[in-house]
Amino acid sequence: MDSGKVLVVLLLGLLLGVARSSPSPEPVACAHGTWDCTVTNAYGSFPDRHVCHAANAAFPSTEQELVAAVAAAAAAKRKVKVATKYSHSFTKLACPGGRDGTIISTERLNRTVSVDSANGLMTVESGMLLKDLIQAAAEAGLALPHSPYWHGLTIGGLVATGAHGSSLWGKGSAVHEYVVGMRIVTPAPASQGFAIVRELGIAEDTSADLDAVKVSLGVLGIVSQVTLKLQPMFKRSVTLEKRDDTDLPAQAAVWGNLHEFGDMTWLPWQGKVIYRRDDRVPVSTSGNGLTHYPGFRANPTARARASSEVVEQDDARRMSAATLPELHGQGFTNNGSFFTGYPVVGFQNRIQASGTEEDMWDPCIRGSFHHFLGFSIALSNAPLFIAEVQQLRDLNPSCAFSGLDANLGVLLRYVRASSAYLGKSEDSLDFDITYYRSLTEHADVVDELEQLALNKYGAVPHWGKNRNRAFDGAIAKYPKAGEFLKVKARYDPHGIFSSEWSDQVLGINGSPSIVGRGCAMEGLCVCSHDSHCAPEKGYSCQPGKVFVEARVCSTSTASLQDM
Ligand SMILES: Cc1cc2nc3c(=O)[nH]c(=O)nc-3n(C[C@H](O)[C@H](O)[C@H](O)COP(=O)(O)OP(=O)(O)OC[C@H]3O[C@@H](n4cnc5c(N)ncnc54)[C@H](O)[C@@H]3O)c2cc1C
Ligand SMILES: *[C@@H]1O[C@H](CO)[C@@H](O)[C@H](O)[C@H]1NC(C)=O
Ligand SMILES: *[C@@H]1O[C@H](CO)[C@@H](O)[C@H](O)[C@H]1NC(C)=O
Repeated sequence: MDSGKVLVVLLLGLLLGVARSSPSPEPVACAHGTWDCTVTNAYGSFPDRHVCHAANAAFPSTEQELVAAVAAAAAAKRKVKVATKYSHSFTKLACPGGRDGTIISTERLNRTVSVDSANGLMTVESGMLLKDLIQAAAEAGLALPHSPYWHGLTIGGLVATGAHGSSLWGKGSAVHEYVVGMRIVTPAPASQGFAIVRELGIAEDTSADLDAVKVSLGVLGIVSQVTLKLQPMFKRSVTLEKRDDTDLPAQAAVWGNLHEFGDMTWLPWQGKVIYRRDDRVPVSTSGNGLTHYPGFRANPTARARASSEVVEQDDARRMSAATLPELHGQGFTNNGSFFTGYPVVGFQNRIQASGTEEDMWDPCIRGSFHHFLGFSIALSNAPLFIAEVQQLRDLNPSCAFSGLDANLGVLLRYVRASSAYLGKSEDSLDFDITYYRSLTEHADVVDELEQLALNKYGAVPHWGKNRNRAFDGAIAKYPKAGEFLKVKARYDPHGIFSSEWSDQVLGINGSPSIVGRGCAMEGLCVCSHDSHCAPEKGYSCQPGKVFVEARVCSTSTASLQDM
């Protein structure tokens, strides 16, 4: 063999090796055909480090098949839950109750049903990926005005968890605000064949139910189709500006009013904020910009990472050097290939969300290296919260906050109040913190920040993010939760779409916190005893530094027991 051939063989071996070692991105796996299945999320395990079991799985490709699948489960009195193509919710929402339930995947329900360009209406099946939806709309000259920033989510899943982009203008940034119709399959009595399709939104008397079904956490039935009210295609002009964070509390109160798609990326350790000045411009404005949000970009450093915490810490530090410059421009290009300067002007479909196929396979995303903390605070309270986090930062000048900067910083986005029962009840500022698990090194800071937000500032957790303890008591913060439960009782009286997790989160039965050894380190509980931390590693349960009511796992010397 000449050296060229050896190289090819070696490279091929390497590629195959890589391909084989990549975990499958499919969240549903069955041992025997469609029987004896497990379901997980895109990260390969839920916050409690478990996967869930189900007796069987169904993969309907039409609404009739979907109705038949729900009917079969209802007739057999099996618990049911929807899984989507990748199931990106961090929480246990995708698990059917018990171990003998049915998983119904919307993976094959991914077609466009109809487009009415004149009226800006588009109906799609619920398993359609955001990227396909945005593309199909653009081909009809239409734009979904707001969306999450990553496009590998399904319309059914992202609406069910209240997903959003950033805006205070008009109806705001939550995708469900643009939903004007839905078809949902719910259980029914035997006389009606065990399952029916309910059509919502067209007739007056069904629009109230739409407020329940939009953000449903999947507990009302399975949404078959979603009708969206879109806008004529437009362009956006984006400029990122890095400034000091000294006046962030005041700026956060007004930035969302100044710019239709404005957001802020806070780098607390550096004391900087990257303001996103982002506004709608006429389609005639020149520019063909494209975004690729760096947080979702597969990068070689992160890809090569082994699973040990030590390596993660190294990487987190290296990432701060490698990844951050991308935030300052290279996430955007002016023409799809080069960044030449701001503003970046481009069509909505090229600016609103991004991602690649590669990201969906990315072991960094699947390998549970990340934690997703996401909560919203009423806009009126947000400046005070930010000021307190600044105080907390100033008390931890060493490296506690550098971990946040090294990851993606804290993303601040605007969401408007919604009539959806489990949507935001007030105009809010959403805080997203995506970080490597290595940050448990400084768990106390994240713990305190989380409790400050949830307990002092009345924050509500994002339904598709966070670890267990964030949901403890969350439902009490939704003034219309009672209305939601009434619709649930009507649609699914036997609770076949409910699980242990959804009952805990909705305050129906039990608590989402799991109390035991080390639970606070895992985000499963708030500590009340040293054993909830990791005393053998020097972590004990202590009060917060700024929010003294907080209970955090810390390595400082005073323990709660000594106080
Ligand atoms: C990289 C990344 C970026 C993200 N960016 C954002 C962001 O910018 N903004 C934001 O708000 N969120 C964001 N998220 C969170 C995301 O919006 C939610 O986690 C979302 O629920 C995931 O959608 P999914 O299609 O994977 O749904 P899944 O996780 O599969 O499902 C979520 C829930 O919806 C239910 N469900 C799904 N389909 C249906 C249906 N057809 N009928 C009834 N119930 C259904 C499921 O049963 C489950 O309860 C991001 C997540 C990731 C991983
Ligand atoms: C639907 O999913 C199939 C299989 O994943 C894919 O090949 C097809 O392109 C998708 N269709 C649309 C419209 O997104
Ligand atoms: C993008 O812009 C760069 C720099 O101006 C130019 O060299 C390149 O050819 C352009 N690419 C496309 C696809 O237009």
